[in-house]
Amino acid sequence: MSGRVICRLDDLKDKSARGYDVALDDGDVISLIVVRKGEAAFVYRNRCPHTGINLEWQPDQFFHPDGAFLQCATHGALFRPEDGYCVRGPCAGDRLERINARIVDGEVVVSA
Ligand code: FES
Repeated sequence: MSGRVICRLDDLKDKSARGYDVALDDGDVISLIVVRKGEAAFVYRNRCPHTGINLEWQPDQFFHPDGAFLQCATHGALFRPEDGYCVRGPCAGDRLERINARIVDGEVVVSA
């Protein structure tokens, strides 16, 4: 099964998220968010469903201060870390775009 390594799971603390820019084969670069929860990782496109802008206000600042939700810095939408569902904000009921990912030998691998 092919895939691309984004990072090591241990690069992230539990209940944290980091941003990664990934170059595609066609030369485009996409921005991803990797969220760690325990031994699981969830990967999303870094693109708010409201306007398409990146979520963070500073590098790797994706979590709301309460630590329970990912937050879009622009208008405050809140997303569940486990499935990207927007629970509050202008895009409530929408979701972040999920990227298929798995852990292989401690590395977070997304589908190519
Ligand atoms: S751009 Fe994300 S909530 Fe408006």
